[in-house]
Amino acid sequence: MEIRIERTTAPKAKPADETALGFGNLFTDHMFVMDYTEGKGWHDARIVPYAPLVLDPAALVFHYAQECFEGMKAYRRADGKVQLFRPEKNAARMQSTHQRLCIPEIPVEDFVQAVRALVQVDEAWVPHTDGTSLYLRPFTIATEAVLGVKASARYQFIVIASPSGAYYAEGINPVRIYVEDEYVRAAPGGTGYIKCGGNYAASIIASEKAHQLGFSQVLWLDGVERKYVEEVGSMNIFFKIDGQIYTAATVGTVLPGITRMSCIELLRDWGYTVNEGRLAIADVMAAARDGKLEEVFGTGTAAVISPVGELVYEGESAHINGGQIGPVTQKLYDTLTGIQWGRLPDDRGWTQEI
Ligand code: COI
Repeated sequence: MEIRIERTTAPKAKPADETALGFGNLFTDHMFVMDYTEGKGWHDARIVPYAPLVLDPAALVFHYAQECFEGMKAYRRADGKVQLFRPEKNAARMQSTHQRLCIPEIPVEDFVQAVRALVQVDEAWVPHTDGTSLYLRPFTIATEAVLGVKASARYQFIVIASPSGAYYAEGINPVRIYVEDEYVRAAPGGTGYIKCGGNYAASIIASEKAHQLGFSQVLWLDGVERKYVEEVGSMNIFFKIDGQIYTAATVGTVLPGITRMSCIELLRDWGYTVNEGRLAIADVMAAARDGKLEEVFGTGTAAVISPVGELVYEGESAHINGGQIGPVTQKLYDTLTGIQWGRLPDDRGWTQEI
């Protein structure tokens, strides 16, 4: 794929204090853009100065939400070089998302090339401070101006980049999670397994409720019986019960997280049994009562590894590991972030230098 590069003539000031970055608040000087037109395919790949988009108010994305996104990061290593973590997995997941939304797919190589090219152009924006990274947000929107409910004949694929710190204000400190039993996030046959904005829009009401009650996030249960744990709004979730690890299977209603997949690979290498299947919230609460709920943690690109200190379900509270990060959670955090930031050798070929 040929990418035209138009550099900004008005570069923005970079953040003076990288420890105060927060998540997704500011954006680099450039963005990658590529168009799709029916009959022509994906074309006109370019990197241009970061700027507002001009879209017709009738563009399908605004009405029927034919859009989707990915989340990934570029990491600054101690030697100053920059690397990506399993970008081909994001590309493959984006393809599966495009398929579900009837959006023409982008070849894996083109997706990875687009991301690499943007990181190269905005390399100076990859922060240096411990725990920070350049968060990358590839996304696709339907741009055809028509009010019929149908697959758009035109799209834009865009990648923007945001120097970021921790997603949760708590950082690596355990978060409090509310088990949601009123609203549902996903149902079989729906879009729970893809990264489309609609999933997140429908989840906001539950997050608002959770925030008002003093929780960081909600834990979603399955949409049919409201019995089995699925995922947290911005991450997959794992439970360590009596020595074994449990997480929901990614069978249609749960996002197949790349951090999730990487943690499962690491845990199995370390000899843990990882059960991917149905785990009833009642069993989690019972394990907590019996003193067998040893650790709970979330995994995600933005969230990294996020220990859970407390779960509240139907008024009952499960306190986990005395509100402290557990040893397996800590080991996963150290290993994964070690590989991502290049502090540990990457024996698995997960990283890609820019
Ligand atoms: C990510 O972890 O990259 C995501 O896309 C989750 C998002 C809700 C911040």
